[in-house]
Amino acid sequence: MKIFVTRKIPGNHIQKLIDAGHEVTTSNLGRPLTEEELIEKIKGVDAVLSLLTDKINGDVMDIAGPTLKIISNYAVGFDNINIKDATDRGIVVTNTPCEEVNEAVADHTWALILDLARKITESDRAVHAGSYQGWEPDIFLGRNIKGSTLGIVGLGRIGGMVASRAKAFGVNVLYNKREKDLEAEKALGVTFSPLDELLANSDFITLHVPLTEETRHMINEISLSKVKKGAILINTARGGVVDEHALVDALRSGALGGAGLDVFDNEPNINPELIGMENVVLTPHIASATQQARNKMGELAVNAILSLASDKKPDNIANPEVWDKRRK
Ligand code: DGY
Repeated sequence: MKIFVTRKIPGNHIQKLIDAGHEVTTSNLGRPLTEEELIEKIKGVDAVLSLLTDKINGDVMDIAGPTLKIISNYAVGFDNINIKDATDRGIVVTNTPCEEVNEAVADHTWALILDLARKITESDRAVHAGSYQGWEPDIFLGRNIKGSTLGIVGLGRIGGMVASRAKAFGVNVLYNKREKDLEAEKALGVTFSPLDELLANSDFITLHVPLTEETRHMINEISLSKVKKGAILINTARGGVVDEHALVDALRSGALGGAGLDVFDNEPNINPELIGMENVVLTPHIASATQQARNKMGELAVNAILSLASDKKPDNIANPEVWDKRRK
């Protein structure tokens, strides 16, 4: 197969494709490709190993041409790919969900919760700026975690791991999901809550839903008007789930007490007002950036292409309905 890899990925996984006899081209630009660059490179390939920074819609798929059989996305989220367009064309789309990513994102979520609760980054900035004058009784007062309530919006694989960590901190967990998850309730001791009630009762709110038409800006002016005063919002899912203008307003008015954000609506651009806020911690979309997670993501992304090349069903198909009408 002719395979295009849109950017170098950590590890030696791509070599496996070459060793299997495939013709592999990897972009060596070391940055996300522009649409023009992607279109140029994608023509006539059988497979693309894409990153979440590559926007791939039906037009791009058509430019690749009728040979394109699989888009293997090196990410759990696949909102960068138009799934319907791929399915209509018989193109298989795969992603890389795995324990390693789930663990990494759950850890990062908790790192942000603890950071905001105890003003770690805020006080670190002050110390670095030379303003530490010695112990004082009333500087950087945070909040105890024990006994607080964490609201998890989206109790899938990652949300579940965030919940399991909450036990160790003595935190009560509310969750919202399309349907009640009785199994999770039993295993994790979490309580279902309609979204409005979850927002009104949580000291910390963390988002773990995929970005879809349904979830785009689900955290907006209206939902933010319902949060418990001073709650802290964490987003390690996708930036588009939150309306950033409404978020800035809620932080400015004190409706929200802080925010920990790893993802942004228009990456890599970040609303400059967020950058200027003391009670906002910003990380550059690194929630899954651990060696273990990246290694597994590379393995899964490559294995999906190798499976399809030998006409075997890949493990993680984002559009399973395509399988019986896939391009050959
Ligand atoms: C994912 O896998 O979707 C992550 O956002 C990548 O870091």
